[in-house]
Amino acid sequence: MPTFYVTTPIYYVNDRPHIGHCYTTLLADVVARFHRLDGDDVLMLTGTDEHAEKVIDRAKEAGVGVQEWADRNAQAFRDAFEFMELSQDDFVRTSEDRHKDRASAYIQKLVDSGDIYLGDYVGWYDPGQEEYVTESVAKAHDYKSPVSGKPLEKRTEQNYFFKLSAYEQKLGEHLDAHPRFVQPEARRNEVLGRMRQGLQDVPVSRAVKDDGGEDWGIRMPNDPGHRVYVWIEALCNYLTVVDTPDRRHYWPASMHLLAKDILWFHAVVWPAMLMALDEPLPGCVYAHAYFVAEGRKMSKSMGNFIEIDQLRAYGERYSVDAVRWYLATQGPLGSTDADFAHTNFVDIYNAELANGLGNCASRVVNMIHKYFDGNVPDARDATVHGDIDWPSLTIGHVQTARDYFGLVDLHGAGHQSLAIVTAIDGYINNTEPFRLAKKVSGPDDPQYADLALILYNCAEALRIAALLMLPFMPQKAKAVLDMLGASTPGNGELEAHAAWRGEHGLKAGAPVVKGQGLFMRADTEEAAPQA
Ligand code: MSP
Repeated sequence: MPTFYVTTPIYYVNDRPHIGHCYTTLLADVVARFHRLDGDDVLMLTGTDEHAEKVIDRAKEAGVGVQEWADRNAQAFRDAFEFMELSQDDFVRTSEDRHKDRASAYIQKLVDSGDIYLGDYVGWYDPGQEEYVTESVAKAHDYKSPVSGKPLEKRTEQNYFFKLSAYEQKLGEHLDAHPRFVQPEARRNEVLGRMRQGLQDVPVSRAVKDDGGEDWGIRMPNDPGHRVYVWIEALCNYLTVVDTPDRRHYWPASMHLLAKDILWFHAVVWPAMLMALDEPLPGCVYAHAYFVAEGRKMSKSMGNFIEIDQLRAYGERYSVDAVRWYLATQGPLGSTDADFAHTNFVDIYNAELANGLGNCASRVVNMIHKYFDGNVPDARDATVHGDIDWPSLTIGHVQTARDYFGLVDLHGAGHQSLAIVTAIDGYINNTEPFRLAKKVSGPDDPQYADLALILYNCAEALRIAALLMLPFMPQKAKAVLDMLGASTPGNGELEAHAAWRGEHGLKAGAPVVKGQGLFMRADTEEAAPQA
């Protein structure tokens, strides 16, 4: 069975989760669900990055120990992902021994191979902030502290470095040979552009400073006076989690999902580390753009982050699946930012879910109740009807959805299902079963067979539309399948279930159930739900 290993960034636990974290993990979830249905052996990984200094700082501000602070926020991430119905197979925390032990072993291996060496770090130090600022930041502030305005000091300290420069050529060759290694295209060009300026070795450790009693992070295995720089060990999580006998076959990862903010680490630093470790490289690094809120960048200072509690309020009013659908199909995949705007949410919800899928399902089921006593009509097997070749149309959309999933185009993939719904609506409008029903005198009337055929085709097509909705809206799609009396496919059963009138197709006489309205139409005037 082919494996499919998809990862998300591991998120900092200095704070609680917000829409951005939920978004990337949702993307991984939708893609993972599709691959499971399509028969791959899937591993989906998400988790938390805990050893950052800002975690210590926030814990101190809150007056609790750093482990407790990390525990609380890690739990908040788990809760958020549960609410979003995310199906991660594992949730890694970098404070776990399984991560620390393996990450230390990789660092030791790189020390042994000479890929990590002790060198001098020279930089502009801000004594008030106890941190180095980059040359460009220092220059922009006339070599004064951007915070206090006091002069910056040129300092030298001993650090361990990773020989990134040694991998410049090999990495360039890999990028040339694998044009889809970094996606989307705009991000790949960004990486290539920066690589042309040459690769510098990167610091991988900091001298241990007093953390106020907290021993947080991973020590350099060869030199406990140094602590491994948080980014370097964090990247290792993707490998530490599968570096066990039962999971080794998942490596290399098929796809690292993340946003543009952390592309360099994933597209350059991590692949070079893997080369140094003699490990194969992941299939692709996909860096999406950002969600902004009501047209404005989200930031702490603006206080306009869409927090998990606000997403919960949307979930309560419109259903969690509607939130999933909106984020996954309207989100910032590709290279341009996307706006989370309430009016846009309501427009999409009404057009695609309430008036789209929901209305189509109730139309079809209601007519089957009215004209066939709520049982799947016994219809002749006519491939082409009303100018529509239903088997080709539906299998075509299944194949196109598969192609879009391969391109991580979730808008394209999700709209294959909607295209089937649109075809059903058009077919109903053209064949007018409601008018035909009035003319039919009884089961012996030849027009009765036509009526049966029309409604059978609608219901069978709707079943396949629901199949394609499963990765996006697991509950609502299952509700549609339940209404039709159809079974929900298990792992690897997409192909069999997608067959028109196949083994899992609708059977004549099987009961069809009127569901509760799937999606209540939304009031466009109503204010946004608040947490
Ligand atoms: N801990 C590092 C990642 C280490 S991975 C080895 C980190 N954490 S983070 O908590 O800051 O999360 C950053 C990620 O959150 C982004 O790459 C993206 O996946 C997600 N998002 C954060 N803000 C976002 C938006 N406004 N919009 C969409 N996704 C965003 O960086």
